[in-house]
Amino acid sequence: MSGASARIVQVGGPVLRAETDGVFRSNEAVEVGHQRLIGEVLRLDGNQIVVQVFEETAGLKPGDPVTGTGRPLSVRLGPGLLGGIFDGLLRPLTGSDESFIEPGFTIAAAGRVPFTPVVETGDELTEGQAFGKVVREGRPDLLCMVPPGISGKVESIASAGDVDETETVCKLAEEDGTSHELSCSQVWPVRDPRPARRRLPASGPLITGQRIMDTLFPVARGGRAALPGGFGTGKTILQQSVAKWCDADIIIYVGCGERGNEMAEVLREFPELEDPRTGRPLSERSVIIANTSNMPVAAREASIYTGVTVAEYFRDMGFDVAMLADSTSRWAEALREISGRLGELPAEAGYPAYLGSRKAEFYERAGRTEALSGAVGSVTLIGAVSPPGGDFSEPVTLYTQRNVRCFWPLDRERARARFYPAIHPLQAYSEDADELGQWWREQGYPEWDGHRRRLLELLGEQVQLERMARIVGKDTLPAPQQLALLNAELANEAFLRQSAMSDVDAFCTPERQIAMMRTLMRFIDRSHSALEGGMTVAGIAGLPLLRRVRRMGEEIGNDEVERFEKLQADIDAALASSGVVESGTESKSETEAGQETAT
Ligand SMILES: Nc1ncnc2c1ncn2[C@@H]1O[C@H](COP(=O)(O)OP(=O)(O)OP(=O)(O)O)[C@@H](O)[C@H]1O
Ligand SMILES: [Mg+2]
Repeated sequence: MSGASARIVQVGGPVLRAETDGVFRSNEAVEVGHQRLIGEVLRLDGNQIVVQVFEETAGLKPGDPVTGTGRPLSVRLGPGLLGGIFDGLLRPLTGSDESFIEPGFTIAAAGRVPFTPVVETGDELTEGQAFGKVVREGRPDLLCMVPPGISGKVESIASAGDVDETETVCKLAEEDGTSHELSCSQVWPVRDPRPARRRLPASGPLITGQRIMDTLFPVARGGRAALPGGFGTGKTILQQSVAKWCDADIIIYVGCGERGNEMAEVLREFPELEDPRTGRPLSERSVIIANTSNMPVAAREASIYTGVTVAEYFRDMGFDVAMLADSTSRWAEALREISGRLGELPAEAGYPAYLGSRKAEFYERAGRTEALSGAVGSVTLIGAVSPPGGDFSEPVTLYTQRNVRCFWPLDRERARARFYPAIHPLQAYSEDADELGQWWREQGYPEWDGHRRRLLELLGEQVQLERMARIVGKDTLPAPQQLALLNAELANEAFLRQSAMSDVDAFCTPERQIAMMRTLMRFIDRSHSALEGGMTVAGIAGLPLLRRVRRMGEEIGNDEVERFEKLQADIDAALASSGVVESGTESKSETEAGQETAT
């Protein structure tokens, strides 16, 4: 601790001024008042400092002390974080839904963890390498790592057993005699990215289980995506679906400035959720950071940095980590409020001029990396944005869009029609898609690029045709265009629609996505041949089989993908290119459909 001290001269909400009689540094963490609340130096101003306080400042008054800690705002990263629920500064939240933790400067609670050494006395260790691990049943094996910047020879190492997270378990000696006492946890400044050896190119997608995301607008492992949507369009449900189902090893869920009751729901639900891969509670491989709208605004500002720091910590152990932030707009609002208190000149919509660079700094922390130890891991960042009035041209959405590679905007009209997920297929895009084609080919799906392009073209065509149909009437459109409308509607219903509440369809494996896409494309291809062969659009629209295709997501589960082959065969039969549908064929497949549903 530098111990530099100051006296408060003025308090204004989360921001205060203090007169110093020592040296403070910009961004230094400080203890404020007799309760030793946590604060951070925002600005040095002659013999005064401007400090933001991460806790309720109501009791503070002029004359109260401010003491420097000599280090930037930091959190303690340890194996005990997994399964926990924390506030924006990584202090455990326990008890009732929105309970505040006791004020005061504690950078994290230390838990007890089962430690197993993986090195011996005399071993040479460099930064990032593991000296021990923490193995708990059903949970990912975690590493106790040498912090960045430290290396040396192992002087002593604890034997296996339960240890406190802050207790010294390994001593390292450098050649010059400097020694380091290491525990299973390490302290890290939240605003600094954790170092890695190098960045790696994308290797594959983060599978979210949402068809519209994975098949049409995929995000790479280590990618960055934004989910903007107006009020009530389904951001939270979608973020939670991804948290539940995506194939990351570790989930960091940051509830940032959302309503307390909404967050309470997450806190209640999450521990009960079952991990689809292990059958154990999902919470065992997740960390929840909650800063609801009624909690101090500065802590909310810090919460996304805290979240991404935790994500990087697990990445450095070699895990694929997904961090979901709901909503980054509330974070930006916190930034705006503090900037206003500082009397800074506002830029667009009252946000500070540095909003864009802060957004960039945050999203830059996504990536797939080779850690200092050589382990390969990734951090995928998915941030929700809540533009006021659903206006995507407002600054937070724009700056976010500039910094992400996947853009999944939620459409008001779709949400209003209860078409979920309400991602607009023509406004969404993925800059990762080209790179990820290779992965789909490796899954035995060489048609991915082609199918994806055709589906997007069809959805684009739909907009044109609907416009024309409104003017001239649908029935006067040429038959191929009427059929395109029918198929576009089918594509939406059969493939893009996916209810988060469905037992069968809440999550879709890549294998089933491929099968569904192939089934849809089979229908589209065959319907065109049938039209050429003399069948009418009305005839195609009237096929009882259409209903089965439309509902295939609800009727055929992830573990019965072979049933799609049967459906495809039935499509072939019903739309036999002769154009003459034999009366027996259709009724036969319908009977079988009935049997299928019954089984
Ligand atoms: N994928 C989905 N599947 C089924 N229902 C959904 C889906 N997404 C949203 N809904 C419905 O829409 C409602 C609102 O969704 P949600 O709370 O996620 O919206 P939001 O965009 O987070 O809202 P807010 O702007 O208030 O934060 C949900 O309660 C649910 O009924
Ligand atoms: Mg929400």
